Amino acid sequence: MSDVILEHAGAGLVGELRLPTDKSISHRAVLLAAQAEGESFLIGVLDSADVRSTMAAVEALGASINRVHGDERGMQLKVRGWGEAGPAQPAGPIDCGNSGTTARLLAGVLAGWPVDVTLTGDGSLSQRPMERVAAPLRLMGAHVETSAAGTLPMRIRGGGLTAITYESPVASAQVKSAVLLAGVRADGVTSVIEPRTSRDHTERMLPVFGAPVERDGLTASVTGPAPLKAAQVIVPADPSSAAFIMAAATVLPGSKVLLPNVGLNPTRIGFVDVLKEMGARITLKDLPAMGNESVGTIVVQTAQQLTGVTVPAAAVPALIDEVPVLALVATQASGRTRFEGVGELRVKESDRLEAVRAGLEALGAPVEAGEDWLEVHGPTTLTGATLHSADDHRLAMTWAVAGLIASGETCVEGFDAVDVSYPAFHTDLTGLLGGGAEG
Ligand code: S3P
Repeated sequence: MSDVILEHAGAGLVGELRLPTDKSISHRAVLLAAQAEGESFLIGVLDSADVRSTMAAVEALGASINRVHGDERGMQLKVRGWGEAGPAQPAGPIDCGNSGTTARLLAGVLAGWPVDVTLTGDGSLSQRPMERVAAPLRLMGAHVETSAAGTLPMRIRGGGLTAITYESPVASAQVKSAVLLAGVRADGVTSVIEPRTSRDHTERMLPVFGAPVERDGLTASVTGPAPLKAAQVIVPADPSSAAFIMAAATVLPGSKVLLPNVGLNPTRIGFVDVLKEMGARITLKDLPAMGNESVGTIVVQTAQQLTGVTVPAAAVPALIDEVPVLALVATQASGRTRFEGVGELRVKESDRLEAVRAGLEALGAPVEAGEDWLEVHGPTTLTGATLHSADDHRLAMTWAVAGLIASGETCVEGFDAVDVSYPAFHTDLTGLLGGGAEG
């Protein structure tokens, strides 16, 4: 199903949906379990292309993974880590596929061990910046080489690390996590200071596996060496996947959707605040936390009226992956919506800033983008168009939601990019149309 065609929805989204589990938390659970002494039990690991890249990588390094049960919304895995014996030298390069999280976090893990590993990736990942993790890992003493352009392939020869305090120039959880994961193997306190707080799943999960983490404002620190011990992790549903369903339900008349067990980590749900500020009708009901992560039930209903808002740069890290779909919602809001400090979108799975600008324009929306800002003027009646995913899962899902809002037909080319984070997206979205009637 590489191309999909969506028609203007005559009805809203109605019903309850069990979303796939969290991609960021799944990567971390597999990476930490792979290093731990003993057998970890991971409940609800996302079965998607990106997480499979991480699983294949740690298997190539000697961890063993036994899939006990599960479906694409979450697998139950028993993972026997390499523990103090360390990872095995893999036979060849490790392919990280499309997954930036795999490449960058794995670089941090490998930096701590005496192995010589080259990381590669697909066409998109091979264009993304890797010096942002290579540079701090070199400061810690690892030998890290990237291409002349600072991209993959990245060769890492690790071991013998020194603890550092690193002031990160970017608010990136992937950079922060790479340094903290290397810090687990360094002698002393390794600290990362961020310009703004990015998602904090690594800081929350490391202590579950026995590594001491301290946090003070924008600084996160780990004290090493900290041998990791097997643990149990339960992965909640992914708020970033929820965002697409929530955006559609907010805009389509007659919608009411209930989403159970969604991760409500504050560093991830900035988009909920923005949608609410625009006028969306969303309620969050907290449930008991799952391990170190907060979870809850989300109920979203059609908004009566939507108004444009300004999203300041400080708010961006907590909604970085949701900007495309928020920009789509902004086409239905009256007035101007402006996103500031969103230059990082240019180095995601695609140049998302340009792709969103071009896609919304093709749908007939007044939109402008600068080097690190995006402005949308609304409300506009969107007209169906042919759009390409640019092989970017979040764009494929944004354009599918656009297809329900726009008049006529919208064709999303390269739709199978959704396999990276939400393989069942089309079935789930259309299954909710008109309360479960055929979409
Ligand atoms: C992720 C961090 C974010 C996000 C990505 C997943 C993670 O990237 O965009 O989808 O799991 O750490 P940056 O940390 O590079 O902003």
